[in-house]
Amino acid sequence: METKNRQWVLAQRPDGIPDESTFDLKEVESPPLEDAQVRVRIDYFTIDPGSRPGLTRASYIPIHPIGGVMMSAGVGTVIESNHDKFTDGDLVAGALGWQDAGVFPAKGLIKLDPNIFPGMLPVTTALGVLGIPGLTAYFALLKLADLKAGETVLISSASGTVGATAGQIARIHGAKAIGIAGTQPKIDWLLSEAKFDSAINYKDVATKSTSPSKGEDQGGGASNNPVSSSTLADAIANACPGGIDIYLDNVGGPTLDAAIENMNPNGRIIISGQISEYNRPEPIGIRNTLDFINRRLTMQGFVVLDYAREFAAAQTQLAQWLLTKEIVIKEEIIPGIENAPTAYRELFTGNSFGRRLIQVKH
Ligand SMILES: NC(=O)c1ccc[n+]([C@@H]2O[C@H](COP(=O)([O-])OP(=O)(O)OC[C@H]3O[C@@H](n4cnc5c(N)ncnc54)[C@H](OP(=O)(O)O)[C@@H]3O)[C@@H](O)[C@H]2O)c1
Repeated sequence: METKNRQWVLAQRPDGIPDESTFDLKEVESPPLEDAQVRVRIDYFTIDPGSRPGLTRASYIPIHPIGGVMMSAGVGTVIESNHDKFTDGDLVAGALGWQDAGVFPAKGLIKLDPNIFPGMLPVTTALGVLGIPGLTAYFALLKLADLKAGETVLISSASGTVGATAGQIARIHGAKAIGIAGTQPKIDWLLSEAKFDSAINYKDVATKSTSPSKGEDQGGGASNNPVSSSTLADAIANACPGGIDIYLDNVGGPTLDAAIENMNPNGRIIISGQISEYNRPEPIGIRNTLDFINRRLTMQGFVVLDYAREFAAAQTQLAQWLLTKEIVIKEEIIPGIENAPTAYRELFTGNSFGRRLIQVKH
């Protein structure tokens, strides 16, 4: 058995978009197993924008420790077990981190159902539609926003797994899905594969904008493509002439202001992510707060982990939609643990498209 294992640890707190200097690739001795521990050979791990805030500040979880293995979800294969629930060869999922193998407490691992994985569904779906992003979309629309047939749902970062799953859940429930994304291939995919009703390229809108206001750029890697919230608001109004009932916000900043301008009375805004704010020292914030009074809007943030007790039922439903192809998802599988920092950086420059995973080569 391999006695060494490679892992990416946090070397220093990033100032802006993380780069190679943010992380260190270390080779460490694999420790012997203790009671109730399991050794897992990691097959895939996730590259998640949601981990970025934790690199520089405490959030709903403590700040990521310097020297700690970069946090992420993963799926892998049990290669040694000191717990009777797991045996060699079991496929498991959990918070496995950016590494090629590791020792984990058995209680932190979920055994993937061998009747489903990998025969019926690829194991990577356990990290996408059936993992945290898909569940985020599910609970955002069906629990928090209380989606109803006939409503119009606007979704930012729509080609990501949260956004794309949400748009398709909206369509399945008889609602209209309008997506916002940053490249033409993403727009084409949203319309042709994910079957959104309409899609807006916010960078295209920015290019057409003549005078973006100061402070209205999207932040981070997208800052070369400033967008004026009023110009984007016009594009949203064109795409949603009847207004928006639900806005699922993955982005924040001027996109959120542009959405607010188009909300219908009693509209619901669900804050899932704020990627345009993650790499900023100070948030841009929102400005159109008067509309909350005039149009009786509500805005609610949430952490999907709060719904953990309901995950199994949601995953059964999401798996059904995947099997019937009512939900389709784009995956980007990048081979090689050494590519993780670049893959991560590209999330914030708009160069990712769909669920980004590192495939660990053993
Ligand atoms: N609340 C929760 O419990 C929870 C759980 C999971 C995830 N989340 C959040 O959900 C959001 C979506 O997650 P995901 O995994 O599906 O990721 P994702 O949408 O694939 O995120 C990457 C994409 O974000 C867009 N982006 C990057 N920088 C941007 C900027 N400055 N302005 C506007 N768009 C930008 C880019 O697409 P474009 O080309 O379209 O710009 C990029 O390809 C994230 O913000 C994440 O933090 C929340």
